[in-house]
Amino acid sequence: MVRALLPLGAALLGATTVLAAGPPTCSLSQKCPKEAPCCSQYGQCGVGAYCLGGCDPRMSFSLDSCVPAPVCKDKTYKMDSLDRYQDIGEYLGDPSKADWVGQGEPLVYDGSVLLTMPPKSVGTVLATTTYMWYGNVKARMKTSRGKGVVTAFILFSDVKDEIDYEFVGVDLNTAQTNYYFQGIPNYDNSGNITVADSYNEWHDYEIQWTPDEIRWLVDGKVGRTKKRSETWNATSNQWAFPQTPSRVQLSIWPGGLESNAKGTIDWAGGIIDWNSDEIKANGYYFASFKEIKVECYKTSNPPGTNKGISYYFNDISATNNTVVDGNKPTILKSFLGTGTDMDKGDGTTSGGASASSSVNAIPGGGSTPPNQVPGGSNPNTGSSGNSGAGGSGSGSGSGSGSAPACEATGFSQSCGGNAAAGGNSSNGPRGVERTLGASAFAVVVGFAGLLLL
Ligand SMILES: *[C@@H]1O[C@H](CO)[C@@H](O)[C@H](O)[C@H]1NC(C)=O
Ligand SMILES: *[C@@H]1O[C@H](CO)[C@@H](O)[C@H](O)[C@H]1NC(C)=O
Ligand SMILES: *[C@@H]1O[C@H](CO)[C@@H](O)[C@H](O)[C@H]1NC(C)=O
Ligand SMILES: *[C@@H]1O[C@H](CO)[C@@H](O)[C@H](O)[C@H]1NC(C)=O
Repeated sequence: MVRALLPLGAALLGATTVLAAGPPTCSLSQKCPKEAPCCSQYGQCGVGAYCLGGCDPRMSFSLDSCVPAPVCKDKTYKMDSLDRYQDIGEYLGDPSKADWVGQGEPLVYDGSVLLTMPPKSVGTVLATTTYMWYGNVKARMKTSRGKGVVTAFILFSDVKDEIDYEFVGVDLNTAQTNYYFQGIPNYDNSGNITVADSYNEWHDYEIQWTPDEIRWLVDGKVGRTKKRSETWNATSNQWAFPQTPSRVQLSIWPGGLESNAKGTIDWAGGIIDWNSDEIKANGYYFASFKEIKVECYKTSNPPGTNKGISYYFNDISATNNTVVDGNKPTILKSFLGTGTDMDKGDGTTSGGASASSSVNAIPGGGSTPPNQVPGGSNPNTGSSGNSGAGGSGSGSGSGSGSAPACEATGFSQSCGGNAAAGGNSSNGPRGVERTLGASAFAVVVGFAGLLLL
């Protein structure tokens, strides 16, 4: 159900100037053009950040358009600061510089990181800068609450294999679990685990993932097991089982936006109330993360190794036998780079960055906000996007369509600039200074060159 974050991704990765038609979209049947070769997680073509985490090689210009993915690293992430966090507009692919890359408004409160969703925003998402290729990951967290408000802790691969925990804010006693293979919707994959008061109480949510099974554990107790042997798809002749290197993603997002598919809204518990007590008290909806622990699988032979520097695919089928654990570099010199031209824009490359480069690079030209959120429909044919294979199995989806959260006049001010800010730091998360858009929407993408495409 990560597709539901599309409005966020579109707003940030795909922000257009008022004049530009918007970036090309991409899907399995429509790959990105040479000039903007990388297909982002949100189905839009570009360079720079588009080629980093989430870049789908199957939908990109060529298999090597995306930048190789940093290999798994054992680590316990204490979520008590944002020192190791970078906005996608700052991160160039060096995992030694950041543990987390994201969009939106994370903030530190009382020894944990809050992912916030101020009024009329599309929430916040964080992803690890390294990838897990099987292994265990555990999150100590508290969910958000309120109708239409969704909290998620998932593993998500660049080819859209996915293993999920999702929480809807109207049911604080259920952890919904789910998985997908290459984003193909399947309405029978979800399963619930009972949990006591996910909003008020810290719980440990864990995913144990091997080539043979997935186990979801809450507070150390197995709540659900899914075996690969149960997932054979006789039509495609393969296991419909997550099997490719995945980032850990943490998010809060508005399932209950009016523009979302009805199935999504229903699943999320209804239309979001931006004047709720929660908003009045804190200025935003939020979910809290105290610690994330990643343990790599560490086999001696693939699949599941982490011996090299990076993972990449050597075949478009993107199954676990096509993942290479190798030594290709992962770091771009600038936001003009791509997997096939990683040094572009470093000032030494002839014909490097020029003003006229066709860059949907990040960061880009100035501060013109988009007048719309492009690419509302899910480009991933057969993905769970619009059809909503979300936890609901009933049409949770991408929030297709543009995000009306921000009115056509551009969003920085009109999207929740009214929320409470400043105040009482001894009274819940309220009071942390924030200005909507300060970090998130500073990333505006220049598309002028795309008009030439
Ligand atoms: C899981 O719980 C939700 C309510 O929170 C319910 O709507 C859904 O049908 C349940 N799913 C399964 C598979 O039991
Ligand atoms: C099996 O694979 C086919 C082809 O990819 C796909 O269309 C179908 O939805 C899959 N079936 C299930 C149950 O996942
Ligand atoms: C992954 O690879 C292993 C070893 O090559 C194989 O046994 C297993 O079935 C594969 N898993 C999936 C889900 O394809
Ligand atoms: C801050 O919160 C505390 C505890 O809830 C309360 O006693 C105090 O009056 C509040 N102060 C302000 C300025 O709101």
